[in-house]
Amino acid sequence: MRIAVLTSGGDAPGMNAAIRSVVRTSISHNWEALGIMRGYEGLLEGSIVPFGARDVGGIIGAGGTMLGSSRSQEFTTEAGQKHAIQVLQNNKIDALIVIGGNGTQKGSYALSEKGYPVIGIASTIDNDLYGSDQTIGVDTALNIAVEAIDSIKITASSHHRVFAIEVMGRDCGYLALMAGIAGGAEVIIIPEIDINLEDIAAELHQAYEKGKPHAIIVVAEGAKFNAAALAEYFTDDKQWPGFELRTTVLGYVQRGATPTVYDRLLATQLGAAAVDFAVKKDFGILVGMINNKITATPLEVAATTKKRLDKNLIELAEILAK
Ligand code: F6P
Repeated sequence: MRIAVLTSGGDAPGMNAAIRSVVRTSISHNWEALGIMRGYEGLLEGSIVPFGARDVGGIIGAGGTMLGSSRSQEFTTEAGQKHAIQVLQNNKIDALIVIGGNGTQKGSYALSEKGYPVIGIASTIDNDLYGSDQTIGVDTALNIAVEAIDSIKITASSHHRVFAIEVMGRDCGYLALMAGIAGGAEVIIIPEIDINLEDIAAELHQAYEKGKPHAIIVVAEGAKFNAAALAEYFTDDKQWPGFELRTTVLGYVQRGATPTVYDRLLATQLGAAAVDFAVKKDFGILVGMINNKITATPLEVAATTKKRLDKNLIELAEILAK
């Protein structure tokens, strides 16, 4: 058997640990392991290299992905997907393991629907993929965000300022919600909750009147108002929130970090499990972790179901911000 692995979409800390685990578990089954470079783009170009156990040495603690990644437009087309299957067959590859997030696993589902044996591994810092409580990379991204919030809070207190800290997450508020709770934010703004600028102003005024030395807003990049919109609104004197406002956009800093122990372990377990499912010829699934158990969710379900935020956590964030 020849099994290939690729990473696609936004890279996520822990992807390397998953690649290492896929390669070494495959070898333990006497299978040939191959790496596909630069995601679906590299697959279409036939950029495929054989991997031995030593080729994935020393990468468990490295951020990013040693295979490289891409967002391929061509692969989203029928013709692109058929061409990809042709390339896999020409290279006598029996099964493909795809490490990535939402968009990437829609691609896995497309291949699977066309009859190709694929297994997905849930990995994105956004945590917006159905089929895993946490996807590979989320824990690291959260730790980076909370470290930044802790540090910004100190300077915010010294200067009696309000800070709007923007975190990644695309259309999903998970990173902002969890970082906001863990960082003790006064206001959390996420796409899932409708909030207006007057309400935000009222929350900031309350914090000021209560004598808080700072106010921290954690805002998701996909929310109705991002950090720039907040800055524009609150620099107008009429909207004076009590404090002066500054903004920090964390952006890619969250994505390129060294994976935490949690992400390394999650990635290692999901990588090995994906190969075990392949051994059992259980294809067309997304491998994730739900309630601390390895799970296999049909790719169709993972690709078509929206992952919802936990309402209890949203309520808790509101209570704790007081
Ligand atoms: O999906 C991961 C992610 O980092 C999102 O949080 C962000 O919106 C997006 O990727 C950025 O995409 P790109 O790397 O293409 O700029």
